[in-house]
Amino acid sequence: MKKIVISTGGGDAPGLNAVIYAVVMASHARGWEVYGSRSGYLGLLDLDELVRLTPDKVADITSTGGTIIGSTNKGNPFAMPIENLAGEVEIHDVSDRVMKNFNRMGFACHIAIGGDGSLEIAHRFAVEKGMNVIGVPKTIDNDLEATQSTFGFDTAVSTATEAIDKLHSTAKSHDRVMVVEVMGRDSGWIAVNSGISGGADIILIPEIPFDMDEICKKLDDNELHNKDYAIVVVAEGASAKDAEVITKGAGEVGRAEKVLGGVGTWVAQEISKRTKKDTRALVLGHLQRGGSPTTCDRLLALRFGATAVRLAENQQYDHMVALAGDEMIAVPLERAISKRKKVPRDGDRVRTALEIGICMGVSQEELPF
Ligand code: F6P
Repeated sequence: MKKIVISTGGGDAPGLNAVIYAVVMASHARGWEVYGSRSGYLGLLDLDELVRLTPDKVADITSTGGTIIGSTNKGNPFAMPIENLAGEVEIHDVSDRVMKNFNRMGFACHIAIGGDGSLEIAHRFAVEKGMNVIGVPKTIDNDLEATQSTFGFDTAVSTATEAIDKLHSTAKSHDRVMVVEVMGRDSGWIAVNSGISGGADIILIPEIPFDMDEICKKLDDNELHNKDYAIVVVAEGASAKDAEVITKGAGEVGRAEKVLGGVGTWVAQEISKRTKKDTRALVLGHLQRGGSPTTCDRLLALRFGATAVRLAENQQYDHMVALAGDEMIAVPLERAISKRKKVPRDGDRVRTALEIGICMGVSQEELPF
């Protein structure tokens, strides 16, 4: 009998529960026990936060959003924010306590479902503490180079596309420019996929720093062709040429990444100032992370979960499951966390966007087509 522990770390993504379901069911079929560690590593720090996951506990969760065991993006056991008696937050390394509990519970391995940050922590546990870990890639941003796709991304793109679709009628009725800010951190995958699919006029992504003159030129050109409204899709990590990425600061204590956001409002203000057009900005925000996973995300998540259990059976630790073509493969975690996946400037998405008349925020001469 094997005992395994599963955790979900970082921002939630539709499909997390489907991975949990597949891990529990595939383990149960092998006669193994599964435990869920609440809120990332909390269950391994405090055994009261460990929950036994049995088939009856996970019945019907595949189609639900979020994660039944909770998640956090400020729970790195190597640098954990802990409040002292004076109410001040101090950073402590509690990784040894995690290992002690892991061994005490007799866990054979830890299946860590997370994005780059969580997978990096899992890899550290493997290398520095000898924990048997298997990674499952999760992020709506789709920015992990080692896997063709991550679950949560398709749902986020579908939500964003649906929102953009709905903006057309209101933008048209008022002859307005509507600027929509979407998530994605330093990668423009959500913006470019939803922008092309939703019929945006302009798409701004982090991979192509934009030029406000080109954006205004496109809006003028629209007017010349009797189109008095426009939809601009901006990735939260996009920035103007020679300008810094706009952020909302460091965020909560213990958080590894800054909180992005604000570029949509900035672009809308610039458009309004320069063109005098009626302009509005909206931020889709966490709507993109919520709700039921699409069929595509569910299937990918279930396949990832079943594959992770297969890796556990073969004791192929310190690896991450990944999608390559239509195959499930195992990639060493070290490689998996080493590179972010960016939208290629010379790729087919950018080319398609230009060919169907979408402005990518710069003049066509600046792109290789
Ligand atoms: O990485 C997923 C993501 O949703 C990003 O697209 C976004 O920048 C970030 O998480 C938001 O994080 P939080 O929910 O902690 O504000």
